[in-house]
Amino acid sequence: MSQNAGLCTIISHFETALFKILGVINMLIDSHAHLDDSRFDKDREQLIKDLGNNNIELIINPGSDVATSVKAVSLAQKHENIYAAIGVHPHEVEDMEDETIELLRSLSKKDKVVAIGEIGLDYYYDNSPRELQKKWFREQIKLAKELDLPIIIHDRDAHQDTYDIIKELKDDSLRGVLHCYSGGVELAREFIKLGFYISFAGPITFKNAKVSKLVAKEIPLEKMLIETDSPYLTPHPHRGKRNEPLYVRFVAGEIAQLKGISFEEVMNITNKNARELFGI
Ligand code: NI
Repeated sequence: MSQNAGLCTIISHFETALFKILGVINMLIDSHAHLDDSRFDKDREQLIKDLGNNNIELIINPGSDVATSVKAVSLAQKHENIYAAIGVHPHEVEDMEDETIELLRSLSKKDKVVAIGEIGLDYYYDNSPRELQKKWFREQIKLAKELDLPIIIHDRDAHQDTYDIIKELKDDSLRGVLHCYSGGVELAREFIKLGFYISFAGPITFKNAKVSKLVAKEIPLEKMLIETDSPYLTPHPHRGKRNEPLYVRFVAGEIAQLKGISFEEVMNITNKNARELFGI
């Protein structure tokens, strides 16, 4: 009896050690999470503390306006495993002024600011007039080029204009990622030709996401990032709950399944891609 108990203890220690080793190996990067969001107010610190135990190595936290960009930067300064992107989301550009660009420029000098984002066009909600969306998308791209930082693009129902603006402003320094990509295969290939990465979030795990699944199957893993966009876009099987960085594993798992490759391969290559793009 006691021998059995002893044996069980040894096995359980062995299992824990094994899981720890696997845990060290299975470390994912969530390339897009809004931990500054008020939905994390109650448990943000604990969640960040638990990231390592939940196999999350690093997070890129993009801003949506000046206030959230400042929050993203302060989270990055406080926590080793968080990096910040700063920018104004198309929903929020209506009140943008030249001074806003100045504020972003000075904020970019802080440590661990690795990108300008999220920026782009949203013709689904049209929360800001399209002309202003385009104007401030261009201005923020110019800022990214001046600062030699990559951009994180939000494109919803605005594929053609997004592509045209990128093409128009493309030069050797312009690079970035299409966050939560929602276009088709051909367009993804065109963005890749311009040196951009394609990023997948929770929706790729939905049964009806036929186009996204096809894109993930068709484009090379070497051009992919994975993300959660927490607290939004919770993947299957947790739909309906708040999204969290640790659920990025479901995005990685779906891509592995679609491509018929191992989870480890998806993890290793997307980690490498994120590190290359954001210079970390
Ligand atoms: Ni986002």
